[in-house]
Amino acid sequence: MDANELGSELSKILVTEAELKARLAEMAREIEADYAGAEQPPLLVGVLKGAVMVMADLARELSFHAEMDWMAVSSYGASTKSSGVVRILKDLDTEIAHRDVLIVEDIIDSGLTLSWLKENLESRGANSVRICAMLRKPDAAKVEVDVAYVGFDIPTDFVVGYGLDYAERYRNLRDVGVLAEHVYADAG
Ligand code: XMP
Ligand code: MG
Repeated sequence: MDANELGSELSKILVTEAELKARLAEMAREIEADYAGAEQPPLLVGVLKGAVMVMADLARELSFHAEMDWMAVSSYGASTKSSGVVRILKDLDTEIAHRDVLIVEDIIDSGLTLSWLKENLESRGANSVRICAMLRKPDAAKVEVDVAYVGFDIPTDFVVGYGLDYAERYRNLRDVGVLAEHVYADAG
């Protein structure tokens, strides 16, 4: 989907398709260099559903055989969200003991989901667990998460596109944009 189709639903385009593509290529070169000495390429672990676009583009940009697996997680309600406790809705199919794991995410907001996920995967005996996130909202961070590869640091506005949704819409928008306030207002 092109941003032009959306009229005034976006207040701003933050990162264009071309910028995402160019940055992903840079990140892929870094990843290739960092894992060059490893016995086996890292297992890419995508977090559903938001990471689908980043995973598809990053994996195709990488020059090694990029094995992929997926997890789906959900935060336990608002009251326990600050504890960072997450429920696994879909777990990995892959045994990760002694593997290098690269978590692929669309966005880091508070950091709670990813810090929980990183610890969870480390506890399964992974050799290493690193994080690659296309977007990061530094001003929203509640916990410090070590992110090895970041695409773009962005303001704390709610963004959509490139996998990110509002009520399951906009995921297939090719750019990343800020959703206009009237879209929430119209939804009540
Ligand atoms: P944390 O735990 O880092 O959560 O707070 C990250 C998850 O929250 C969702 N998220 C967003 N989704 N636009 C979205 O469509 C946003 O601006 C946004 N910020 C956070 C997302 O699912 C991410 O995995
Ligand atoms: Mg997500």
